[in-house]
Amino acid sequence: MNAKQGIEVWDITVRLFHWALVLSFTTAYLTEDDFMRVHTYAGFTIIGLVLFRLIWGVIGSYHARFNHFVCSPTTTLAYMKDILYHRSKRYIGHNPAGGAMVLALLTSLIITTVTGLATYATEELSGPLVNLMQTAPSFIYDAAEEVHEFFANFTVVLVVFHVIGVVIASFSHKENLVRAMVTGIKRGD
Ligand code: HEM
Repeated sequence: MNAKQGIEVWDITVRLFHWALVLSFTTAYLTEDDFMRVHTYAGFTIIGLVLFRLIWGVIGSYHARFNHFVCSPTTTLAYMKDILYHRSKRYIGHNPAGGAMVLALLTSLIITTVTGLATYATEELSGPLVNLMQTAPSFIYDAAEEVHEFFANFTVVLVVFHVIGVVIASFSHKENLVRAMVTGIKRGD
């Protein structure tokens, strides 16, 4: 495939990871009150997806690797300033703000799922943290539940900014980034 036809930026695993994450996070968020079994399955799926993405961020394809899109705070802030002045550079992979958002989303999902596992271990006496939680003082359980709820909502806030960022970057560079996350292909110039 040449630059005119487009460049494959997101390999199939990144794309499957992304849309499976959207589906499992939405499911987990919407089922937390009444459908605990579905909520738990969706949560375990998120853990698997995030673990996969952490590994793929080290050994995966060029644009999937963390060292190709994680920038310093200075570069990220300079890029965000450039957006305000309508002079932001186009990136083929994640731009610096997008890269920072990927890290924020993954971190927030890790905190949400680990505290979810702790809550599950205490309430259902099941899951990988059950032994740890049985010996933990009771305030740890209360804290885990609170932190779980807080970070689930915080992830939603991040997702809102994430989607706003995708829309802004799509308009600034006249390209459809959502389509690129479906097809994997971006304009090559
Ligand atoms: C319908 C809502 C969503 C849309 C339209 C969307 C769209 C996108 C797009 C276009 C990208 C690539 C950005 C780029 O070109 O730099 C991306 C990346 C990403 N999105 Fe979303 N997203 C959505 C929801 C979510 C949700 C709910 C999560 C997590 C809870 C999420 C997590 C991520 C992550 C982790 C990446 C990085 C992908 C990777 O490098 O593996 N997104 N998203």
